[in-house]
Amino acid sequence: MAAPMQLVVVLNIVLSCVQTIVQGHSYNVPPYKETYFDQFVDHFNFLSFGQQTFKQRVLTQDKWWKRSSGPIFFYTGNEGSIDEFWKNTGFVFDIAPEFGALVVFAEHRFYGKSMPFPIDNFNSKHVGLLTIEQALADYAVLLTSLKKSLNATGCPVIAFGGSYGGMLSAYMRYKYPGIIAGSIASSAPIYLLDPNFPKTFFWKTVTKDFNDASSKCVGKVRDAFGKMNTTAAKGDFSTISSKFHLCNELTNLDQYRHLLLWIRNAFGSLSMMDYPYPTDFLANLPAYPVKEACSYLMKEDDSVVGLSKVAGLFYNGTNGSLKCFDIFSEYIECADPTGCGTGAAGSAWDYQACTEVRLPQGTDSTTDMFPVLPFTDEIREKYCFKRWGVVPRDSWGNVQLINLDLKGASNIVFANGNLDPWMGGGVLSTSNPGIKVIVIDGGAHHLDLRSANPMDPASVKQARVVEKQQIQQWINQWR
Ligand SMILES: *[C@@H]1O[C@H](CO)[C@@H](O)[C@H](O)[C@H]1NC(C)=O
Ligand SMILES: *[C@@H]1O[C@H](CO)[C@@H](O)[C@H](O)[C@H]1NC(C)=O
Ligand SMILES: *[C@@H]1O[C@H](CO)[C@@H](O)[C@H](O)[C@H]1NC(C)=O
Ligand SMILES: *[C@@H]1O[C@H](CO)[C@@H](O)[C@H](O)[C@H]1NC(C)=O
Repeated sequence: MAAPMQLVVVLNIVLSCVQTIVQGHSYNVPPYKETYFDQFVDHFNFLSFGQQTFKQRVLTQDKWWKRSSGPIFFYTGNEGSIDEFWKNTGFVFDIAPEFGALVVFAEHRFYGKSMPFPIDNFNSKHVGLLTIEQALADYAVLLTSLKKSLNATGCPVIAFGGSYGGMLSAYMRYKYPGIIAGSIASSAPIYLLDPNFPKTFFWKTVTKDFNDASSKCVGKVRDAFGKMNTTAAKGDFSTISSKFHLCNELTNLDQYRHLLLWIRNAFGSLSMMDYPYPTDFLANLPAYPVKEACSYLMKEDDSVVGLSKVAGLFYNGTNGSLKCFDIFSEYIECADPTGCGTGAAGSAWDYQACTEVRLPQGTDSTTDMFPVLPFTDEIREKYCFKRWGVVPRDSWGNVQLINLDLKGASNIVFANGNLDPWMGGGVLSTSNPGIKVIVIDGGAHHLDLRSANPMDPASVKQARVVEKQQIQQWINQWR
Protein backbone atom coordinates (compact mmCIF):
# COMPACT_ATOMS: atom_id res chain seq x y z
CA MET A 1 0.00 0.00 0.00
CA ALA A 2 2.64 2.42 -1.09
CA ALA A 3 2.07 6.02 -0.22
CA PRO A 4 2.47 8.63 -2.93
CA MET A 5 5.58 10.03 -1.36
CA GLN A 6 7.90 9.79 -4.33
CA LEU A 7 6.25 12.93 -5.58
CA VAL A 8 7.19 15.28 -2.76
CA VAL A 9 8.89 17.58 -5.24
CA VAL A 10 5.66 18.58 -6.95
CA LEU A 11 3.91 19.79 -3.83
CA ASN A 12 2.61 23.15 -2.79
CA ILE A 13 1.67 24.29 -6.27
CA VAL A 14 -1.79 23.31 -5.10
CA LEU A 15 -1.85 26.36 -2.90
CA SER A 16 -1.83 28.73 -5.78
CA CYS A 17 -3.90 27.09 -8.47
CA VAL A 18 -7.54 26.27 -8.66
CA GLN A 19 -7.31 23.50 -11.19
CA THR A 20 -4.47 21.19 -12.05
CA ILE A 21 -4.42 20.27 -15.68
CA VAL A 22 -2.82 16.93 -16.36
CA GLN A 23 -2.56 15.79 -19.94
CA GLY A 24 -5.72 17.57 -20.90
CA HIS A 25 -7.79 16.42 -17.94
CA SER A 26 -8.78 18.74 -15.19
CA TYR A 27 -9.22 17.66 -11.61
CA ASN A 28 -11.09 19.49 -8.93
CA VAL A 29 -8.26 20.70 -6.68
CA PRO A 30 -9.22 23.82 -4.75
CA PRO A 31 -6.65 25.78 -2.75
CA TYR A 32 -6.35 25.12 0.98
CA LYS A 33 -5.29 26.82 4.16
CA GLU A 34 -2.47 25.03 5.94
CA THR A 35 -2.44 25.14 9.74
CA TYR A 36 -0.72 23.20 12.50
CA PHE A 37 -2.56 21.78 15.48
CA ASP A 38 -0.89 21.23 18.86
CA GLN A 39 -1.40 17.52 19.25
CA PHE A 40 -0.46 15.33 22.19
CA VAL A 41 2.47 13.06 21.47
CA ASP A 42 1.01 10.24 23.56
CA HIS A 43 -2.73 10.03 24.23
CA PHE A 44 -2.58 6.90 26.32
CA ASN A 45 0.25 7.34 28.77
CA PHE A 46 0.17 10.48 30.88
CA LEU A 47 3.74 9.97 32.06
CA SER A 48 5.72 8.95 29.02
CA PHE A 49 5.87 12.30 27.29
CA GLY A 50 3.93 14.31 29.85
CA GLN A 51 2.21 17.29 28.27
CA GLN A 52 4.51 17.19 25.23
CA THR A 53 2.84 18.15 21.95
CA PHE A 54 3.77 18.25 18.28
CA LYS A 55 2.51 20.19 15.29
CA GLN A 56 0.02 18.17 13.27
CA ARG A 57 -0.60 19.50 9.76
CA VAL A 58 -4.22 20.28 8.84
CA LEU A 59 -5.53 21.51 5.48
CA THR A 60 -8.88 23.29 5.35
CA GLN A 61 -11.18 24.96 2.87
CA ASP A 62 -14.20 26.80 4.27
CA LYS A 63 -15.54 28.67 1.22
CA TRP A 64 -18.55 26.36 0.91
CA TRP A 65 -19.25 26.07 4.61
CA LYS A 66 -22.63 27.10 5.99
CA ARG A 67 -21.03 28.46 9.14
CA SER A 68 -21.87 26.62 12.37
CA SER A 69 -24.58 24.49 10.75
CA GLY A 70 -23.07 22.74 7.72
CA PRO A 71 -21.31 19.38 8.14
CA ILE A 72 -17.57 18.86 8.38
CA PHE A 73 -16.06 16.61 5.70
CA PHE A 74 -12.99 15.12 7.32
CA TYR A 75 -10.32 13.21 5.42
CA THR A 76 -8.46 10.75 7.66
CA GLY A 77 -4.91 11.12 6.34
CA ASN A 78 -3.01 7.95 5.58
CA GLU A 79 0.57 6.93 4.84
CA GLY A 80 1.87 9.97 3.00
CA SER A 81 1.95 13.74 2.80
CA ILE A 82 -1.56 15.06 3.22
CA ASP A 83 -1.33 17.42 0.24
CA GLU A 84 -1.01 14.41 -2.07
CA PHE A 85 -4.34 13.12 -0.80
CA TRP A 86 -5.83 16.59 -1.15
CA LYS A 87 -4.91 16.47 -4.84
CA ASN A 88 -6.45 13.05 -5.39
CA THR A 89 -9.72 13.18 -3.45
CA GLY A 90 -11.79 15.49 -5.66
CA PHE A 91 -15.08 13.78 -4.79
CA VAL A 92 -15.07 15.61 -1.46
CA PHE A 93 -14.74 18.99 -3.21
CA ASP A 94 -17.27 18.02 -5.87
CA ILE A 95 -19.97 17.52 -3.22
CA ALA A 96 -18.93 19.98 -0.50
CA PRO A 97 -20.82 22.94 -2.08
CA GLU A 98 -24.23 21.21 -2.14
CA PHE A 99 -23.81 20.09 1.48
CA GLY A 100 -22.46 23.46 2.62
CA ALA A 101 -19.56 21.54 4.12
CA LEU A 102 -16.33 22.59 5.76
CA VAL A 103 -13.49 20.48 4.33
CA VAL A 104 -10.70 19.38 6.66
CA PHE A 105 -7.82 17.04 5.76
CA ALA A 106 -5.60 15.93 8.64
CA GLU A 107 -2.14 14.47 8.22
CA HIS A 108 -1.30 11.13 9.85
CA ARG A 109 1.35 11.28 12.58
CA PHE A 110 4.87 10.28 11.40
CA TYR A 111 4.08 11.25 7.79
CA GLY A 112 4.66 14.41 5.79
CA LYS A 113 5.27 17.33 8.11
CA SER A 114 3.48 15.81 11.11
CA MET A 115 6.47 14.42 12.94
CA PRO A 116 5.95 14.00 16.69
CA PHE A 117 9.62 14.68 17.48
CA PRO A 118 12.10 17.22 16.16
CA ILE A 119 14.66 14.47 15.40
CA ASP A 120 15.10 10.70 15.52
CA ASN A 121 11.43 9.90 14.96
CA PHE A 122 12.24 6.37 13.93
CA ASN A 123 14.36 5.29 16.87
CA SER A 124 12.98 2.74 19.33
CA LYS A 125 12.11 5.38 21.96
CA HIS A 126 9.85 7.26 19.54
CA VAL A 127 8.48 5.08 16.78
CA GLY A 128 6.35 3.06 19.22
CA LEU A 129 3.96 6.01 19.16
CA LEU A 130 3.15 5.21 15.54
CA THR A 131 -0.02 3.17 16.01
CA ILE A 132 -3.51 3.16 14.55
CA GLU A 133 -5.03 4.00 17.92
CA GLN A 134 -2.78 7.05 18.42
CA ALA A 135 -3.65 8.26 14.90
CA LEU A 136 -7.39 7.83 15.52
CA ALA A 137 -7.08 9.65 18.85
CA ASP A 138 -5.25 12.49 17.06
CA TYR A 139 -8.20 12.89 14.70
CA ALA A 140 -10.76 12.71 17.52
CA VAL A 141 -8.93 15.30 19.64
CA LEU A 142 -8.40 17.58 16.64
CA LEU A 143 -12.07 17.43 15.63
CA THR A 144 -13.29 18.09 19.16
CA SER A 145 -11.07 21.12 19.50
CA LEU A 146 -11.80 22.39 15.99
CA LYS A 147 -15.56 22.18 16.48
CA LYS A 148 -15.32 24.11 19.71
CA SER A 149 -13.18 26.88 18.27
CA LEU A 150 -15.46 27.20 15.22
CA ASN A 151 -18.67 27.21 17.28
CA ALA A 152 -19.59 24.08 15.40
CA THR A 153 -20.15 21.61 18.22
CA GLY A 154 -23.48 20.53 16.77
CA CYS A 155 -22.17 19.97 13.23
CA PRO A 156 -22.06 16.36 12.03
CA VAL A 157 -18.68 15.07 10.86
CA ILE A 158 -18.44 12.75 7.87
CA ALA A 159 -15.14 10.89 7.58
CA PHE A 160 -13.63 10.07 4.18
CA GLY A 161 -10.63 7.93 3.39
CA GLY A 162 -9.11 5.67 0.76
CA SER A 163 -6.95 2.56 1.14
CA TYR A 164 -5.37 2.56 4.65
CA GLY A 165 -7.06 5.96 5.01
CA GLY A 166 -10.37 4.19 4.25
CA MET A 167 -9.64 1.74 7.05
CA LEU A 168 -9.02 4.71 9.33
CA SER A 169 -12.25 6.44 8.34
CA ALA A 170 -14.20 3.23 9.10
CA TYR A 171 -12.38 2.84 12.42
CA MET A 172 -13.12 6.48 13.32
CA ARG A 173 -16.85 5.86 13.15
CA TYR A 174 -16.45 2.57 15.01
CA LYS A 175 -14.26 3.94 17.83
CA TYR A 176 -15.68 7.46 18.07
CA PRO A 177 -19.38 7.29 17.13
CA GLY A 178 -20.00 10.40 19.25
CA ILE A 179 -17.69 12.38 16.99
CA ILE A 180 -18.20 10.82 13.54
CA ALA A 181 -21.73 10.63 12.07
CA GLY A 182 -20.71 8.30 9.25
CA SER A 183 -17.80 7.21 7.08
CA ILE A 184 -17.00 6.69 3.43
CA ALA A 185 -14.38 3.95 3.43
CA SER A 186 -13.10 3.51 -0.08
CA SER A 187 -10.88 0.56 -1.06
CA ALA A 188 -10.37 -0.19 2.62
CA PRO A 189 -8.96 -3.72 3.07
CA ILE A 190 -9.99 -4.00 6.73
CA TYR A 191 -9.86 -7.81 6.63
CA LEU A 192 -6.07 -7.57 6.43
CA LEU A 193 -6.23 -7.11 10.19
CA ASP A 194 -7.98 -10.42 10.73
CA PRO A 195 -5.26 -12.97 11.46
CA ASN A 196 -7.29 -15.79 9.91
CA PHE A 197 -8.26 -14.04 6.71
CA PRO A 198 -6.27 -15.40 3.73
CA LYS A 199 -3.71 -12.88 2.52
CA THR A 200 -3.21 -14.29 -0.97
CA PHE A 201 -5.59 -12.06 -2.88
CA PHE A 202 -3.32 -9.22 -3.97
CA TRP A 203 -1.02 -10.73 -6.64
CA LYS A 204 -3.81 -13.02 -7.83
CA THR A 205 -5.90 -9.96 -8.65
CA VAL A 206 -2.97 -8.20 -10.33
CA THR A 207 -2.56 -11.28 -12.51
CA LYS A 208 -6.29 -11.35 -13.22
CA ASP A 209 -6.22 -7.69 -14.28
CA PHE A 210 -3.50 -8.42 -16.83
CA ASN A 211 -5.29 -11.57 -17.91
CA ASP A 212 -8.48 -9.57 -18.45
CA ALA A 213 -6.52 -7.17 -20.64
CA SER A 214 -5.25 -10.18 -22.63
CA SER A 215 -4.42 -13.76 -21.71
CA LYS A 216 -1.50 -13.55 -24.15
CA CYS A 217 -0.15 -10.76 -22.01
CA VAL A 218 0.09 -13.02 -18.96
CA GLY A 219 1.77 -15.66 -21.13
CA LYS A 220 4.33 -13.12 -22.23
CA VAL A 221 5.04 -12.03 -18.66
CA ARG A 222 5.58 -15.65 -17.61
CA ASP A 223 7.79 -16.22 -20.63
CA ALA A 224 9.90 -13.18 -19.74
CA PHE A 225 10.40 -14.24 -16.13
CA GLY A 226 11.25 -17.76 -17.33
CA LYS A 227 13.91 -16.44 -19.74
CA MET A 228 15.34 -14.23 -17.03
CA ASN A 229 15.52 -17.20 -14.70
CA THR A 230 17.60 -19.14 -17.24
CA THR A 231 19.85 -16.18 -17.96
CA ALA A 232 20.36 -15.47 -14.26
CA ALA A 233 21.07 -19.12 -13.51
CA LYS A 234 23.92 -18.90 -16.03
CA GLY A 235 25.24 -15.91 -14.14
CA ASP A 236 24.74 -13.64 -17.15
CA PHE A 237 23.72 -10.54 -15.21
CA SER A 238 25.08 -8.13 -17.78
CA THR A 239 22.48 -9.09 -20.42
CA ILE A 240 19.69 -8.62 -17.89
CA SER A 241 21.13 -5.36 -16.58
CA SER A 242 21.39 -3.86 -20.03
CA LYS A 243 17.90 -4.92 -21.11
CA PHE A 244 16.52 -3.17 -18.03
CA HIS A 245 18.71 -0.06 -18.43
CA LEU A 246 20.05 -0.44 -14.91
CA CYS A 247 22.42 2.25 -13.67
CA ASN A 248 24.56 -0.37 -11.96
CA GLU A 249 25.12 -3.82 -13.37
CA LEU A 250 23.81 -6.63 -11.17
CA THR A 251 26.56 -8.73 -9.68
CA ASN A 252 24.84 -11.51 -7.76
CA LEU A 253 21.61 -13.42 -7.22
CA ASP A 254 20.56 -11.24 -4.27
CA GLN A 255 20.64 -8.19 -6.48
CA TYR A 256 18.84 -10.10 -9.21
CA ARG A 257 16.14 -10.97 -6.71
CA HIS A 258 15.79 -7.28 -5.92
CA LEU A 259 15.27 -6.60 -9.62
CA LEU A 260 12.42 -9.13 -9.61
CA LEU A 261 10.80 -7.37 -6.64
CA TRP A 262 11.24 -4.03 -8.37
CA ILE A 263 9.52 -5.37 -11.51
CA ARG A 264 6.70 -7.00 -9.55
CA ASN A 265 6.10 -3.74 -7.71
CA ALA A 266 5.53 -1.94 -11.02
CA PHE A 267 2.79 -4.44 -11.94
CA GLY A 268 1.06 -4.02 -8.58
CA SER A 269 1.07 -0.25 -8.90
CA LEU A 270 -0.21 -0.30 -12.49
CA SER A 271 -3.12 -2.47 -11.37
CA MET A 272 -3.97 -0.17 -8.48
CA MET A 273 -3.80 2.89 -10.73
CA ASP A 274 -5.77 1.39 -13.61
CA TYR A 275 -7.91 4.50 -13.97
CA PRO A 276 -9.86 5.29 -17.15
CA TYR A 277 -7.98 8.56 -17.69
CA PRO A 278 -4.39 9.76 -17.24
CA THR A 279 -3.41 10.36 -13.60
CA ASP A 280 -0.42 11.44 -11.56
CA PHE A 281 -1.09 9.76 -8.22
CA LEU A 282 1.78 7.28 -7.74
CA ALA A 283 3.31 8.07 -11.12
CA ASN A 284 2.39 9.88 -14.32
CA LEU A 285 0.38 7.22 -16.00
CA PRO A 286 -1.71 7.01 -19.15
CA ALA A 287 -5.38 6.01 -19.14
CA TYR A 288 -5.85 2.30 -18.43
CA PRO A 289 -2.14 1.67 -17.80
CA VAL A 290 -2.67 -2.11 -17.57
CA LYS A 291 -3.86 -2.23 -21.16
CA GLU A 292 -1.00 0.06 -22.13
CA ALA A 293 1.51 -2.21 -20.36
CA CYS A 294 0.14 -5.21 -22.22
CA SER A 295 0.44 -3.43 -25.53
CA TYR A 296 4.13 -2.74 -24.74
CA LEU A 297 4.62 -6.44 -24.01
CA MET A 298 2.84 -7.63 -27.12
CA LYS A 299 4.83 -5.27 -29.35
CA GLU A 300 8.23 -6.65 -28.32
CA ASP A 301 9.61 -9.84 -29.85
CA ASP A 302 11.90 -10.18 -26.86
CA SER A 303 9.57 -10.65 -23.89
CA VAL A 304 12.29 -9.53 -21.46
CA VAL A 305 12.57 -6.21 -23.26
CA GLY A 306 8.77 -6.00 -23.10
CA LEU A 307 8.94 -6.55 -19.35
CA SER A 308 11.49 -3.76 -19.01
CA LYS A 309 9.12 -1.44 -20.89
CA VAL A 310 6.35 -2.23 -18.39
CA ALA A 311 8.64 -1.44 -15.47
CA GLY A 312 9.63 1.78 -17.27
CA LEU A 313 6.00 2.77 -17.70
CA PHE A 314 5.77 2.96 -13.91
CA TYR A 315 9.25 4.02 -12.75
CA ASN A 316 10.03 6.39 -15.60
CA GLY A 317 6.52 7.76 -15.12
CA THR A 318 7.44 9.03 -11.67
CA ASN A 319 10.04 11.24 -13.32
CA GLY A 320 9.91 10.85 -17.11
CA SER A 321 13.52 11.70 -17.71
CA LEU A 322 15.45 8.88 -16.08
CA LYS A 323 18.59 7.92 -18.00
CA CYS A 324 18.74 4.59 -16.23
CA PHE A 325 17.01 2.77 -13.38
CA ASP A 326 18.46 2.73 -9.89
CA ILE A 327 16.41 -0.18 -8.59
CA PHE A 328 17.74 0.12 -5.03
CA SER A 329 16.51 3.67 -4.58
CA GLU A 330 13.29 3.20 -6.57
CA TYR A 331 12.18 0.13 -4.65
CA ILE A 332 12.99 -0.72 -1.07
CA GLU A 333 12.24 -4.17 0.25
CA CYS A 334 10.23 -4.02 3.46
CA ALA A 335 7.46 -5.68 5.45
CA ASP A 336 4.91 -4.84 2.74
CA PRO A 337 5.35 -7.00 -0.39
CA THR A 338 3.18 -4.51 -2.28
CA GLY A 339 5.76 -1.80 -1.56
CA CYS A 340 6.35 0.68 1.27
CA GLY A 341 7.56 3.51 -0.91
CA THR A 342 10.75 5.37 -0.16
CA GLY A 343 12.04 8.00 2.28
CA ALA A 344 10.68 8.67 5.77
CA ALA A 345 7.14 7.67 4.79
CA GLY A 346 8.47 4.33 3.57
CA SER A 347 10.09 3.73 6.96
CA ALA A 348 6.92 4.71 8.80
CA TRP A 349 4.81 2.34 6.73
CA ASP A 350 7.37 -0.42 7.17
CA TYR A 351 7.03 -0.04 10.95
CA GLN A 352 3.23 -0.20 10.71
CA ALA A 353 3.54 -3.27 8.50
CA CYS A 354 5.73 -4.83 11.20
CA THR A 355 3.31 -4.15 14.03
CA GLU A 356 -0.45 -3.74 13.53
CA VAL A 357 -0.98 -4.01 9.79
CA ARG A 358 -0.52 -7.42 8.20
CA LEU A 359 0.01 -6.96 4.46
CA PRO A 360 -0.58 -9.56 1.74
CA GLN A 361 1.75 -12.45 1.09
CA GLY A 362 4.30 -12.73 -1.68
CA THR A 363 4.08 -14.59 -4.98
CA ASP A 364 4.22 -18.31 -5.78
CA SER A 365 4.16 -18.39 -9.59
CA THR A 366 1.12 -20.72 -9.66
CA THR A 367 -1.74 -18.57 -8.38
CA ASP A 368 -0.02 -15.56 -9.98
CA MET A 369 2.22 -14.81 -12.98
CA PHE A 370 5.26 -13.71 -10.96
CA PRO A 371 8.44 -15.51 -9.90
CA VAL A 372 8.49 -17.35 -6.57
CA LEU A 373 9.07 -14.51 -4.10
CA PRO A 374 7.47 -15.61 -0.85
CA PHE A 375 6.62 -13.45 2.14
CA THR A 376 5.50 -15.74 4.93
CA ASP A 377 4.73 -15.03 8.58
CA GLU A 378 8.15 -16.44 9.47
CA ILE A 379 9.96 -14.21 6.99
CA ARG A 380 8.01 -11.23 8.29
CA GLU A 381 8.72 -11.96 11.93
CA LYS A 382 12.41 -12.40 11.31
CA TYR A 383 12.61 -9.23 9.25
CA CYS A 384 10.61 -7.13 11.72
CA PHE A 385 12.63 -8.22 14.68
CA LYS A 386 15.87 -7.47 12.89
CA ARG A 387 14.73 -4.12 11.44
CA TRP A 388 12.66 -2.72 14.33
CA GLY A 389 13.12 -5.07 17.28
CA VAL A 390 9.41 -5.87 17.23
CA VAL A 391 7.32 -9.00 16.87
CA PRO A 392 4.07 -8.38 14.95
CA ARG A 393 0.94 -8.75 17.10
CA ASP A 394 -1.67 -9.75 14.53
CA SER A 395 -4.46 -10.63 16.94
CA TRP A 396 -4.65 -7.07 18.31
CA GLY A 397 -6.44 -5.71 15.22
CA ASN A 398 -9.37 -8.04 15.79
CA VAL A 399 -9.55 -7.20 19.47
CA GLN A 400 -9.56 -3.43 19.18
CA LEU A 401 -11.10 -2.86 15.74
CA ILE A 402 -13.88 -4.03 13.42
CA ASN A 403 -14.24 -7.81 13.18
CA LEU A 404 -15.03 -9.89 10.11
CA ASP A 405 -18.70 -9.97 11.11
CA LEU A 406 -18.79 -6.14 11.45
CA LYS A 407 -20.67 -6.42 14.74
CA GLY A 408 -21.08 -3.07 16.45
CA ALA A 409 -20.25 -1.11 13.29
CA SER A 410 -22.72 1.31 11.69
CA ASN A 411 -22.97 4.19 9.24
CA ILE A 412 -20.11 3.10 7.03
CA VAL A 413 -20.01 2.75 3.24
CA PHE A 414 -17.43 0.22 2.08
CA ALA A 415 -16.77 0.80 -1.62
CA ASN A 416 -14.40 -1.34 -3.69
CA GLY A 417 -13.51 -1.45 -7.37
CA ASN A 418 -13.14 -4.86 -8.98
CA LEU A 419 -9.91 -3.90 -10.79
CA ASP A 420 -8.28 -3.03 -7.49
CA PRO A 421 -5.95 -5.70 -6.11
CA TRP A 422 -6.94 -4.55 -2.60
CA MET A 423 -10.60 -5.48 -3.11
CA GLY A 424 -9.93 -9.01 -1.87
CA GLY A 425 -9.27 -7.64 1.62
CA GLY A 426 -12.36 -5.44 1.65
CA VAL A 427 -15.97 -5.78 2.78
CA LEU A 428 -17.97 -7.15 -0.14
CA SER A 429 -21.12 -8.26 1.65
CA THR A 430 -22.72 -7.94 5.04
CA SER A 431 -25.96 -8.64 6.85
CA ASN A 432 -25.44 -5.57 9.02
CA PRO A 433 -28.13 -3.08 7.92
CA GLY A 434 -26.03 -0.14 9.14
CA ILE A 435 -23.31 -0.92 6.61
CA LYS A 436 -23.56 -0.22 2.89
CA VAL A 437 -21.43 -2.24 0.49
CA ILE A 438 -20.69 -1.02 -3.04
CA VAL A 439 -18.75 -2.85 -5.73
CA ILE A 440 -17.63 -0.62 -8.57
CA ASP A 441 -17.43 -2.55 -11.82
CA GLY A 442 -14.33 -1.41 -13.71
CA GLY A 443 -13.07 0.64 -10.77
CA ALA A 444 -9.43 0.76 -9.64
CA HIS A 445 -8.06 1.87 -6.24
CA HIS A 446 -10.53 4.33 -4.64
CA LEU A 447 -11.73 5.66 -8.00
CA ASP A 448 -14.92 6.86 -6.31
CA LEU A 449 -12.96 9.37 -4.21
CA ARG A 450 -11.51 11.03 -7.29
CA SER A 451 -13.15 13.98 -9.05
CA ALA A 452 -15.92 13.28 -11.50
CA ASN A 453 -14.37 12.76 -14.93
CA PRO A 454 -15.95 12.38 -18.39
CA MET A 455 -14.25 8.97 -18.70
CA ASP A 456 -15.83 7.62 -15.50
CA PRO A 457 -17.73 4.34 -15.91
CA ALA A 458 -21.45 4.40 -15.00
CA SER A 459 -20.69 2.20 -11.98
CA VAL A 460 -18.62 4.86 -10.24
CA LYS A 461 -21.15 7.57 -10.99
CA GLN A 462 -23.79 5.38 -9.35
CA ALA A 463 -21.48 4.66 -6.39
CA ARG A 464 -21.09 8.38 -5.76
CA VAL A 465 -24.88 8.86 -5.88
CA VAL A 466 -25.31 6.19 -3.21
CA GLU A 467 -22.52 7.68 -1.12
CA LYS A 468 -24.19 11.09 -1.27
CA GLN A 469 -27.53 9.60 -0.20
CA GLN A 470 -25.87 7.90 2.74
CA ILE A 471 -24.11 11.09 3.79
CA GLN A 472 -27.42 12.97 3.67
CA GLN A 473 -29.06 10.27 5.76
CA TRP A 474 -26.31 10.36 8.39
CA ILE A 475 -26.54 14.15 8.56
CA ASN A 476 -30.32 14.03 9.04
CA GLN A 477 -29.91 11.36 11.70
CA TRP A 478 -27.37 13.46 13.58
CA ARG A 479 -29.64 16.48 13.88
C1 LIG B 1 -17.99 31.75 18.50
O1 LIG B 1 -19.00 32.30 19.33
C2 LIG B 1 -18.51 33.30 20.24
C3 LIG B 1 -19.64 33.70 21.17
O2 LIG B 1 -20.83 33.84 20.46
C4 LIG B 1 -17.93 34.46 19.43
O3 LIG B 1 -17.39 35.42 20.31
C5 LIG B 1 -16.83 33.94 18.51
O4 LIG B 1 -16.36 34.99 17.68
C6 LIG B 1 -17.33 32.80 17.64
N1 LIG B 1 -16.22 32.23 16.91
C7 LIG B 1 -16.28 31.93 15.61
C8 LIG B 1 -15.05 31.37 15.02
O5 LIG B 1 -17.27 32.10 14.95
C1 LIG C 1 14.48 -20.29 -11.29
O1 LIG C 1 13.21 -20.77 -10.93
C2 LIG C 1 13.23 -21.86 -10.03
C3 LIG C 1 11.81 -22.35 -9.86
O2 LIG C 1 10.98 -21.30 -9.43
C4 LIG C 1 13.86 -21.42 -8.72
O3 LIG C 1 13.92 -22.48 -7.81
C5 LIG C 1 15.23 -20.87 -8.99
O4 LIG C 1 15.76 -20.35 -7.79
C6 LIG C 1 15.19 -19.79 -10.03
N1 LIG C 1 16.53 -19.38 -10.37
C7 LIG C 1 16.90 -18.11 -10.35
C8 LIG C 1 18.31 -17.83 -10.74
O5 LIG C 1 16.15 -17.21 -10.04
C1 LIG D 1 14.56 12.84 -12.41
O1 LIG D 1 15.65 11.96 -12.31
C2 LIG D 1 16.90 12.57 -12.56
C3 LIG D 1 17.96 11.48 -12.63
O2 LIG D 1 17.85 10.62 -11.52
C4 LIG D 1 17.13 13.59 -11.45
O3 LIG D 1 18.37 14.27 -11.68
C5 LIG D 1 16.01 14.62 -11.49
O4 LIG D 1 16.15 15.52 -10.41
C6 LIG D 1 14.66 13.93 -11.37
N1 LIG D 1 13.60 14.91 -11.56
C7 LIG D 1 12.55 14.98 -10.76
C8 LIG D 1 11.53 16.00 -11.11
O5 LIG D 1 12.39 14.23 -9.80
C1 LIG E 1 12.48 7.39 -19.79
O1 LIG E 1 11.65 8.03 -20.75
C2 LIG E 1 12.34 8.91 -21.57
C3 LIG E 1 11.32 9.66 -22.41
O2 LIG E 1 10.49 8.77 -23.07
C4 LIG E 1 13.35 8.12 -22.42
O3 LIG E 1 14.07 8.98 -23.26
C5 LIG E 1 14.30 7.38 -21.48
O4 LIG E 1 15.17 6.55 -22.21
C6 LIG E 1 13.54 6.54 -20.49
N1 LIG E 1 14.46 6.02 -19.49
C7 LIG E 1 14.71 4.73 -19.33
C8 LIG E 1 15.72 4.39 -18.26
O5 LIG E 1 14.20 3.84 -19.97
